[in-house]
Amino acid sequence: MLYQRGMITAPNVVLAGIVGSGKSSLAKSLYTRSLPFGRRVYVPGDPKGEHTAVAEAVGGKAIILGHGLRNRLNPLDEGHRPAAASDAEWAAQLASRRRDLIGALAETVLDRQLTPLEHTAIDLALADAVRSAPVPILPMVVDRILSPDPTDDPEHRLAEDGRLVGHALRRLVAGDLAGLFDGPSTVRFDPTLPMVSLDLSRVTENSTLISVLMTCSSAWMEGALADPDGGQRWVVYDEAWRLMAYPALLRRMDAQWRLARHYGIANMLIFHKLTDLDNVGDSGSAMRALASSLLANAETRIVYRQEPDQLGSTAAALGLSGTEQKLLPTLGIGQGLWRVKDRSFVVQHQLHPDELAAFDTTARMTGALALADWDSSAEGSAPCRIGAGSEACHGD
Ligand SMILES: Nc1ncnc2c1ncn2[C@@H]1O[C@H](COP(=O)(O)OP(=O)(O)O)[C@@H](O)[C@H]1O
Ligand SMILES: [Mg+2]
Repeated sequence: MLYQRGMITAPNVVLAGIVGSGKSSLAKSLYTRSLPFGRRVYVPGDPKGEHTAVAEAVGGKAIILGHGLRNRLNPLDEGHRPAAASDAEWAAQLASRRRDLIGALAETVLDRQLTPLEHTAIDLALADAVRSAPVPILPMVVDRILSPDPTDDPEHRLAEDGRLVGHALRRLVAGDLAGLFDGPSTVRFDPTLPMVSLDLSRVTENSTLISVLMTCSSAWMEGALADPDGGQRWVVYDEAWRLMAYPALLRRMDAQWRLARHYGIANMLIFHKLTDLDNVGDSGSAMRALASSLLANAETRIVYRQEPDQLGSTAAALGLSGTEQKLLPTLGIGQGLWRVKDRSFVVQHQLHPDELAAFDTTARMTGALALADWDSSAEGSAPCRIGAGSEACHGD
């Protein structure tokens, strides 16, 4: 609304707070309450699987990925073609999108930037794979990096140049991530649904691999997102601190955030503390600058409860006053300091009892009993009183 009135110019939201402070619940309220106004919601990677029930409740779809499950997503899918693009423009867009993605995946697994030689190895392998199949899949690219077409490699040096990249990517097709992104897609991304979420909770816990998955899945959604006629949409990165540690992902996110306004997209980035952004790259590095620009590109910054050792850095990052800073450790569940551009508000997020039942992440107990309990507790008083310790209401 503020965006429509021109009071803010960037619709992106950054939300930080300790585990159990109510971040995900706020996100779920913000996006579900916007559905009746025609907004759509995409969650490109949900490591805890906590948006799945919400997606199903609102008539959307959750795609559950995991070892031993049938679902596959091909990150090299052509995706959605904008109506305005000519054949040549489309071919160029597609080639650069695929090149960027494979490069980002390789950098994430290698945990360093690629060399020019490695970029060339990827380029030639991709071009070769595209020639051999209309929709290439990742194993073809890996094969061609490890054993390049002899006509591309008369001096037999290309294979050597691409060896490390080839083996890094091989992890996604034959290693611990095999079976998720290594074949033709078995599901379609339907951008007309009110909500689509990628549930990664069945993927074995490992931060590098989850980040790789989030890169693949956000790229997979990107084709459909990059449509200026797609209407207004939320893209929610819950548990985003997992992404922040990877420069390649950060660069992609930064590019997406810059385009957000053009495409009618509001990004929501959820993490624990603002210093998650500081852990990116060395101090003063280009990566650190990128991380700060993500923060700068969000005119709405919501700070939930912070650990005492975080207060100084949070205050510095957001330019908080002494009073605002003192407030942070006293915030209860669902309470936050909202900084909208240069104005500050203390906001209590009121969860409707039905929202609480649908969003709850503490109740490990399942089924009607759990719901009945929550209903009765919601009847008389606030279900989770402000100021309750994080033990009473934690999410992990
Ligand atoms: N505004 C709120 N009012 C009452 N209870 C809340 C509120 N927000 C969150 N909770 C409770 O706290 C629990 C943890 O919230 P969650 O959003 O998962 O925290 P986080 O994502 O910060 O770890 C939820 O399951 C819910 O029961
Ligand atoms: Mg959460």
